[in-house]
Amino acid sequence: MTSIDPSRLVAEDLTLGYGDRIVVENLDLQVHTGVVTTIIGPNGCGKSTLLRALGRLLKPKSGKVILDGKAISSMRTKDVARVLGMLPQAPTAPEGLTVGDLVSRGRHPHQSWIRQWSSDDESEVANALELTGVGDLADRPVDELSGGQRQRAWISMALAQGTDILLLDEPTTYLDLAHSVEVLDLVDRMHEDMGRTVIMVLHDLNLAVRYSDQLIVMSQGKIVESGRPQDVISEQLLLDVFGLEATVIEDPVSDRPLIVPIGTRHVYGAVGGPQKSAAHSVAAPQSTN
Ligand SMILES: Nc1ncnc2c1ncn2[C@@H]1O[C@H](COP(=O)(O)OP(=O)(O)O)[C@@H](O)[C@H]1O
Ligand SMILES: [Mg+2]
Repeated sequence: MTSIDPSRLVAEDLTLGYGDRIVVENLDLQVHTGVVTTIIGPNGCGKSTLLRALGRLLKPKSGKVILDGKAISSMRTKDVARVLGMLPQAPTAPEGLTVGDLVSRGRHPHQSWIRQWSSDDESEVANALELTGVGDLADRPVDELSGGQRQRAWISMALAQGTDILLLDEPTTYLDLAHSVEVLDLVDRMHEDMGRTVIMVLHDLNLAVRYSDQLIVMSQGKIVESGRPQDVISEQLLLDVFGLEATVIEDPVSDRPLIVPIGTRHVYGAVGGPQKSAAHSVAAPQSTN
C-alpha cells in the first residue's frame, strides 16, 4: 500500500562526488514513509553514492539531506543513528569480531552514560539474531562466515538497531536466489509488521520489482523515473536505461511485471521456441505504420 505520510527523509538539490568528480548532480528526492523503495540503475550510475549521502556517510558537495525536518549534517551522529540504520555495500567487520558482538553493536546508539546495556538490548539482539537465522552463529567470527551468512549477520545488526528507517545497499550480494528471497521476505516483514521505511539498492531487477512499493530508476547520476514498479517498468525503459533487450510479461505469482531478458542464445520467435510479442518493438523495427 502506498503511504500518504509525509516524507521523513528528503534530498534537496543534492550534488555528490569524489574529489573533482561529480557523480550525482542537483538531485531531489522525497522518500515515501512506511514503504519499501528500491533504487535501480546500471553499474556505476551513483546508487551507492546516493544511499551513502542519505545515510550521512558522504558529505554532499552542495544541497542537503533532511531527516524529520532537520538538515542531517547538523544532527549528532547518535541522533541520526537512532532513526536511520545503514547497511553499506560489502561492509567489513573488524578481524575476529563475532556475530553476536556485531549485532550487539547495533544497540550502541541507544546507550549513553545514564543508559547502559539493558535487558531490552539483550532481547532486541536475540530477536534480530533469530529473525535473520544467525542465532547459531553468534559465537563465530564474522570474517570466517560464508558470504550469505555474513550478509545475514550484517542485516541482523541493522535490524537490532531498531531504526524506523533502514538503508540497505545490495543486501542480497553473495546470496543465491533462495537466500535472496529469504532476506527480502525478511525486509518485507520489517516493513509490513514493524512499519519500517526501507530504501535499498538491488541489482536484480525482478526482485526489485517484486519486493518494492516504489522504484527509483537512476542513470548517470540522475533519477530518470520513479513510481510503482508496474507503472515504471517497460521494455523501452529497460532498453534506454540498461541497454537490455527484454520482454515484459505478467508474473504468474504476483501482480507485478516480470522481466525476461532476450539475449542471443535463443532465437526469439523460432519454430518451437517462444513467439515474438507484438509489443516487442525493439527487434521488430519494420512495423512502423
Ligand atoms: N570512493 C570513491 N572514490 C572515487 N570514485 C568513486 C568512489 N565510490 C564510487 N566512485 C565512482 O562514482 C561512480 C558511482 O559509483 P557508485 O555510486 O558506487 O555506483 P553504483 O552503486 O550505482 O554502482 C562510479 O563511477 C564510481 O567509480
Ligand atoms: Mg553500488
